[in-house]
Amino acid sequence: MGIKTRKVVIIGAGHVGSHVASSLVMRNVADDIVFIDIDKKKAAAHALDIYDSVSSVEENISVRLGDYDDCKYADVVVISAGTQPVPGKKRLQMFDETIEILQDIVPKLKNSGFNGIVISISNPADIVGDYIRKRLDIPENHVFSTGTSLDTSRLKRILSEKTGYNRNSIQAYCMGEHGDSSMVPFSHVSFGGKSFDDMKKAFPDTFGKIDKEQIMAEVRQGGFEIVNGKSCTEFGIALATCSIVKAVLRDEKRIMPVSPLLKGQYGQTGVSAGVPCVIGKDGVEEIIEISLTQDEKELFNHSCDVIREYIAKADERE
Ligand code: LAC
Repeated sequence: MGIKTRKVVIIGAGHVGSHVASSLVMRNVADDIVFIDIDKKKAAAHALDIYDSVSSVEENISVRLGDYDDCKYADVVVISAGTQPVPGKKRLQMFDETIEILQDIVPKLKNSGFNGIVISISNPADIVGDYIRKRLDIPENHVFSTGTSLDTSRLKRILSEKTGYNRNSIQAYCMGEHGDSSMVPFSHVSFGGKSFDDMKKAFPDTFGKIDKEQIMAEVRQGGFEIVNGKSCTEFGIALATCSIVKAVLRDEKRIMPVSPLLKGQYGQTGVSAGVPCVIGKDGVEEIIEISLTQDEKELFNHSCDVIREYIAKADERE
């Protein structure tokens, strides 16, 4: 039996794609990392720069510029191609530009004979994942976007800042759109197993003052705050994506809030939205349906309606 090389192709060597590659090297997730980008000079430079960093890790990892022929035997393709965020511009407003880029990428990926797992990042993330899934001849659960994985990272940061607990001791998800209609099912937020609401009762002077709406607003604002400061976000999304790639390549069966196609789960059909999913070698291997309160169901359903409106627009495109 030959030695299995873990191959990841990253389509889009911009801020996000280059940091995904760097994260894959630093966390020893992949053995062969390939960039595809229309700007071959920049992609080659990113590859060489990151390849230099390999000298500072134990493993021998290949990082290089490639093309769609490299997709045929890739295990994972990450799609991070897209336009630079603009301060004040919402992710949904990036729809037209991103779809135009995908109209070039997706047919080439399909014709490459790729038969692995696609993880898309490009915004608007939920709609982009759905667009790609519908146009590739691979199992539906093999194509999904990063969904609310980054929103969840921000939620844990914010809750940690406000409560003082280590963010890794906080169980919490964001669900719905990776965007302005995302929501937090606080009935499933817990601190070492003690629910958010029980913590509020136990500590009225600290937890009692935390406002759920304010938390959700801060999570939704997180990306804009960073874009306003540096015209992009890159580190948070790159490591969130790296964790998802790792869960696939190591078949971790890890539960993560990505954006799969919903086929009745949470009462939703034909829409892709951030929900807890079991991630392993077969991509989204299971969708975890947590119970939502009536208020939470209304927020989640609204978010799905927002996404569905843009999926309908994308369906009108070739
Ligand atoms: C963000 C981008 C990835 O939220 O949408 O940072």
